[in-house]
Amino acid sequence: MNQTGLNDNCGCNCSCTNTENPASTIDMEKVYEILNKHKGQQGALMPILNELQDVFGYLPEGALKEVSKAIDIPYAEIYGVATFYSRFTLKPRGEHTISVCLGTACYVKGSKEIFARLVEELDVEGSGDTTEDGKFTLEATRCLGCCGLAPVITIDEDVYGKLVPDDIPNILKKYY
Ligand code: FES
Repeated sequence: MNQTGLNDNCGCNCSCTNTENPASTIDMEKVYEILNKHKGQQGALMPILNELQDVFGYLPEGALKEVSKAIDIPYAEIYGVATFYSRFTLKPRGEHTISVCLGTACYVKGSKEIFARLVEELDVEGSGDTTEDGKFTLEATRCLGCCGLAPVITIDEDVYGKLVPDDIPNILKKYY
């Protein structure tokens, strides 16, 4: 705590130890709860990461740093595990996930252009990125198993096929 009464780490008046952007403050109590549950346990890393992913919907950097201290595994190693498994994400996910199939059948029918149009409409960097408003996460994916509808995207459980880039704005409107 500094003289202004604010936490030295995150700059807000919470009790967290978050060193990220104050806007992305996470509930560190939940992190400590999970860490305490696995205290002294052999092979605790994966169960801890799984629980953090379930609780926060992603693996916040501040939480991973605490994990590193608690189970005495270097942060770089934990980061390596977190980025290796597709189940884990390091950024908050959007309310809806858009998966663009880049499998062969979809690719030859223009899924690359569909993907490019989504990047433009959503104003994101590329696969794995989430829109500024937290509405959508865009992902490139392998064959979705409905090649007859190529090129295909899914938004959550909804499937859209035989697309052209100009279909994208109207599809996105349905989710606002
Ligand atoms: S290649 Fe796209 S659904 Fe199979």
